[in-house]
Amino acid sequence: MRTTPPAVLTCATIPRAWTFALVLAGPVGAQPVSRDPTTAQSVLHPAGTDAAAIANLFWIMTGAGALIWAAVIGTAIYAVLGRHKPQSERFADRFILAGGVIFPTVTLALLLVVGLRLLPNWRATDLPDLRVHVVGEQFWWRIRYETPDGGLVETANELHLPVGAEVEFVLTATDVIHSFWIPVLGGKLDMIPGRTTVLRLRPTATGVYRGACAEYCGLSHALMAMVVVVVPPDRFAEWLEAAARPARTPPPAAYLQAGCPACHVVRAADTPPEVAGVGPDLTHLAARSSLAADTLPLDHATLSGWIANPARYKPGARMPGFAHIDPREREAVVTWLMELQ
Ligand code: CUA
Repeated sequence: MRTTPPAVLTCATIPRAWTFALVLAGPVGAQPVSRDPTTAQSVLHPAGTDAAAIANLFWIMTGAGALIWAAVIGTAIYAVLGRHKPQSERFADRFILAGGVIFPTVTLALLLVVGLRLLPNWRATDLPDLRVHVVGEQFWWRIRYETPDGGLVETANELHLPVGAEVEFVLTATDVIHSFWIPVLGGKLDMIPGRTTVLRLRPTATGVYRGACAEYCGLSHALMAMVVVVVPPDRFAEWLEAAARPARTPPPAAYLQAGCPACHVVRAADTPPEVAGVGPDLTHLAARSSLAADTLPLDHATLSGWIANPARYKPGARMPGFAHIDPREREAVVTWLMELQ
């Protein structure tokens, strides 16, 4: 079964304080969504079909392992402490055959079948409902949505998905190997420079979750996370539509003088869609809920501190510090960036 590709979105997530509470706001009306830190990236609280299958497998394996462990330990205790008369050699041979050969063979074969049933069951000709290209960078995520009209909308570090849709992630990396992992939605997959890997996930519950890089990729590997916002399809369509729009206000002179456009793109009405910077797209920066790949809260003071010295917060980040520019100019840049809803 497939549904029509969702249109897009309009809502923006705006962080008010560095808590896990996120507020979805925007032209479609405010609707608070909270991120529960105990379940936002828990493989045992699945919010997607793949994660649910993996969680089921985990419980089946754990239950079967516990039963077998109890049987083995129980038998050992009985053998050592139980009061019983010596058994015949024939009984001992049969016991070893049953418990040491037949039982493990049957049990492991059954568990193998249970595990193999979880292998992906789709062909390249099965079209997904939505395709999202994600590129691993040191240390952030470049995200490009394919739109229903064949275009691409670029954003970074915050993934919005429609609930119930089969989403195909086309994964690669530019520098080193990263690994794309949203524990509540499904398993992880490596992002390899020069290669493309494909992962399909289907979110089944709305909410705000957390994704993470699961492959050591450098100094700030542990600071390479991602906000994942799963919303109803109509809200996603509105969000995507808003994300595709150019920025509302042109950059101040200080932004150009500091050389920011050498790395970052803030789309204007006449920016060709294929243009991408080496750094994260900032067109709707202020609509995101966090800064530096879910490392920092996104607010005026934090953004200013980040621009002055990114390495203080994120060792190894490619962005140079701008502590040397006039504080008033930096203030002008930050004020403008925080208006980019
Ligand atoms: Cu990217 Cu670890």
